[in-house]
Amino acid sequence: MSKVLLPDTIPSEGEQIFNAAGIEIIHGTGRSAEKMMQEGSDASAVLIGTQNFDAQIMDSMPNLKVIARNGVGYDAVDIDAATARNIKVVNTPFALNDSVAETAITELLAISKNIFWDTKSIYDGQWNYKKTHPGNDVFGKTVGILGFGRIGHVVAEKLAGFNVKIIAHDPFAKATENVEMVSREELFVMSDYVLVHLPAIDSTKHSIGMAEFKKMKETAYFINMARGVIVVEPELVQALQQHEIAGAALDVFEEEPLSMDNPLLELDNVLLTPHIASNTIETKRKMAIDAANDIVAILNGDLAKSVVNP
Ligand code: DGY
Repeated sequence: MSKVLLPDTIPSEGEQIFNAAGIEIIHGTGRSAEKMMQEGSDASAVLIGTQNFDAQIMDSMPNLKVIARNGVGYDAVDIDAATARNIKVVNTPFALNDSVAETAITELLAISKNIFWDTKSIYDGQWNYKKTHPGNDVFGKTVGILGFGRIGHVVAEKLAGFNVKIIAHDPFAKATENVEMVSREELFVMSDYVLVHLPAIDSTKHSIGMAEFKKMKETAYFINMARGVIVVEPELVQALQQHEIAGAALDVFEEEPLSMDNPLLELDNVLLTPHIASNTIETKRKMAIDAANDIVAILNGDLAKSVVNP
């Protein structure tokens, strides 16, 4: 009987797919490499979050045929090592576009209207904090989408009713009815909001730093829902401290969980969330279903919906 290691709990709809396929579930107790190696030693499949999954872990699971990423980004999985071991890597890119796009727009609105700090001011007994910290309207502004893939397209569709100009940069994408394609430089210069929706690959890692923040307007906001490693985080901190830009809304960080001594935690022009862009009941359910179906397909020798290393 094939076994699947679940280091995290998943919605019951995903478990039902394994049960129906006769795959035994190993309920893991955590994401650390040690735990996964210990608990998954006889697993044929594993369903992971954003944790690293390297060659050493693969070698501790000699029966492993498929690594499923419960999400779209697979930067933490050593794809070459998996391919060399004939292990398929699958992900769930069709399940989360709406959720991530909704979160990106939520954070855009929240940082513009200073929602977190105004809310906190009530708890702190500082009702009049708002007088020195007015928000900004989004209406009439320019939103720049860096990385115009599936998620970027959904963001643009959802922004259609906001009366904003939408520009995007992506060497592989074309303009749409409401989105004008611009150069990378133009995107940073023109945007009032820069939204990052890039994958974390060699060419994008640490690709946004002080040079880009200096190009941005002093009144502009930087919003990253993709991966922390795309940004040179100390330079972002510096840009925020020096008010090169107005603020940042960040859902992802170079190191997660964010360490309590991270200087971002000392800034009041940021909105920080703990990697929640796809963390909704509906999307978690859809991701579990897609990942479980692809695991079953691979183990049965059938075609999977989303294989990263076909
Ligand atoms: C993804 O899908 O990669 C998200 O960042 C959540 O894991």
